[in-house]
Amino acid sequence: MLRFMTRPIETLLGWQARYGNVFTVRYTGFGTGVYVAEPDAIRELFTGDQSDLLAGEANSFMEPVLGPHSVLVLDGREHLRQRKLLLPPFQGSRVAAFREVIREVAERELSGWRPGRRLTLRERMRALTFEVICRAVFGVEDRAMQERLRSTVAAVIDSSPVFMLSGAARTDLGPFSPGGRFARRLRAADAVLAEEIERRRRAPDLEERTDVLSLLLRARDEDGQAMSTGELRDELFTMLAAGHETTSTGLAFSFELLLRNPDVLARLREELAAEHGDGYLDAVVKESLRLRPVIDGAERTLTKPRTLGGWALPPGVKVYPGILLTQMRPDLYPEPERFRPERFLDEGAESYAWLPFGGGIRRCLGAALAQAEMAEVLRVVVPAAELRAVRPEPDPVVMRGITLAPKHGVEVTVERVLSAAHAARPAPVVAA
Ligand code: HEM
Repeated sequence: MLRFMTRPIETLLGWQARYGNVFTVRYTGFGTGVYVAEPDAIRELFTGDQSDLLAGEANSFMEPVLGPHSVLVLDGREHLRQRKLLLPPFQGSRVAAFREVIREVAERELSGWRPGRRLTLRERMRALTFEVICRAVFGVEDRAMQERLRSTVAAVIDSSPVFMLSGAARTDLGPFSPGGRFARRLRAADAVLAEEIERRRRAPDLEERTDVLSLLLRARDEDGQAMSTGELRDELFTMLAAGHETTSTGLAFSFELLLRNPDVLARLREELAAEHGDGYLDAVVKESLRLRPVIDGAERTLTKPRTLGGWALPPGVKVYPGILLTQMRPDLYPEPERFRPERFLDEGAESYAWLPFGGGIRRCLGAALAQAEMAEVLRVVVPAAELRAVRPEPDPVVMRGITLAPKHGVEVTVERVLSAAHAARPAPVVAA
């Protein structure tokens, strides 16, 4: 497990080389898990009968923070209810409208970069994706309110994972105890969210607004029921927890790969300058999520015996559809360790072989938004900034919580920077 935490990619690929595309692991404290890196078996798992599979249960440790209504921690009918309410605001056609906001946020970020300045890209991208979530998801434009959300809600999510994992750590033993401080922080975050939800409920322009919170306030379930304040609070927390760190890490990986592959970077610059459409840009995003997925595997717990990939598995076993392992198979992606966006231009990925957002009824709700964020940030930054990697060697990949992340956050020096307005070309209208 220690090796997995410190060198996750080498460790997983080592196990695959030794044991094949289906193998068992016993991570200390997590029970028995089976990695599956077979597209057909993964398709069966994601699309077949889901009644014997649990996904929310594995996330239940996050419930004290995300709340009991969070789509991440629920299973079965309750999960489907939340998911149906949340899906429409995240559809591609809705997300297309956020692209302009994303470009604006990226341009402002870029305007603070100066030649000679050293940046840790993962940190800069975190600030950027936080602002995108504030504006596109929460619908908060006001800088003071964004700051309050950062110092309360984001502060809870960034707290030590110990508070999520251990009830004892959360015990409130007075104002100076760690549990007491955490409880206070959580109450402050809840108060800010409740205030924002109530303000929005009463907003005179609620019917015209297009941010996710406003759409959720107008959403009704099959019985005509609106979402309660508690449900809205839990889903806002969830979207920040699920969508902030993941997207910024995905972006940091994209920059790292581009900097280590100058030919790809040069072609991306050319394609953006020629305004040939977004084919190559989208291929860069897809290829970077293939070679450096942020989540190494999805997770489902079996509640009944099931045969998968020819193996009979007993109830209680966790199945990990192997995102990284499938995406690194040389028979599916020749020379898998090479960063070659062209592979997504020549031929699309075989279905269930490109899985950075998982699949089926648990597929990432923010997939379209995350890809739009990655594409728009690259569209703004790549033509305008020349960056140099500080480290001669590629940044090693380590586990950070449940995500794969660059160990040093991708440190760069800004060599040259044009003003965004100068460099950015009018973006072509992007199909959903
Ligand atoms: C590059 C960025 C991202 C990556 C790599 C990513 C990846 C994932 C993965 C692998 C899952 C689990 C899927 C499964 O079990 O089959 C997931 C679930 C989820 N993601 Fe994302 N995600 C990203 C960004 C986002 C964003 C921007 C949001 C929202 C603002 C978001 C919201 C969610 C939610 C709500 C779920 C739970 C869905 C459910 O259980 O029904 N994610 N994501």
